[in-house]
Amino acid sequence: MTMADHVLDVLISENEIKLRTAELAQQILASYQGQDLILVGILKGSLYFLADLSRHFPPSIEIDFIQVSSYRGGKSSTGVVQIRKDLDINIEGRDVLIVEDVVDTGTTLLHLLELLQTRRPNSIKVATLLSKRQAKNVDINVDFVGFEIEDEFVVGYGLDFGERYRSLPFISILRNLPSASE
Ligand code: IMP
Ligand code: MG
Repeated sequence: MTMADHVLDVLISENEIKLRTAELAQQILASYQGQDLILVGILKGSLYFLADLSRHFPPSIEIDFIQVSSYRGGKSSTGVVQIRKDLDINIEGRDVLIVEDVVDTGTTLLHLLELLQTRRPNSIKVATLLSKRQAKNVDINVDFVGFEIEDEFVVGYGLDFGERYRSLPFISILRNLPSASE
């Protein structure tokens, strides 16, 4: 299959992302009142969002990454989450902001929050660029949401389909997915 086989409709433009990211950053900053933050990006989808969001923060913020097993080769989820790359920074007593690309069922975040809580941070909050409107499978609190979207499979600005399309500067709906990837 070639790239041309996929239809890419723009859902959220580059400029909309830019404006919303700036707004969100101000909201986040206001809620922390000068505390020293650690931004924890969930690899790889949060790559661009974290890069753009972090540039609105004071230079004293720390940045780290965690990678959990991608249980989605295509679109389906097994609900199993494993750590593939752990944090370098000790988060005990620290204020942690998890930066995620999209919260869908909430499974990934739930497991990650459980794990990070065992390390006794002072606080953990979550900022996600996208949140799917459909009822979450799990009861999870997301503190900062960029955009609420419908239950569609999206790519771009870090989000991938089989590792492709991450570098698109906008968010796009991927409609004609091959059924073999399910
Ligand atoms: P959840 O565990 O169901 O909330 O899924 C979260 C993870 O699944 C995200 O971090 C993404 O890696 C992936 N994911 C969910 N929806 C999409 C999508 O529409 N496009 C690309 N990746 C997605
Ligand atoms: Mg992700």
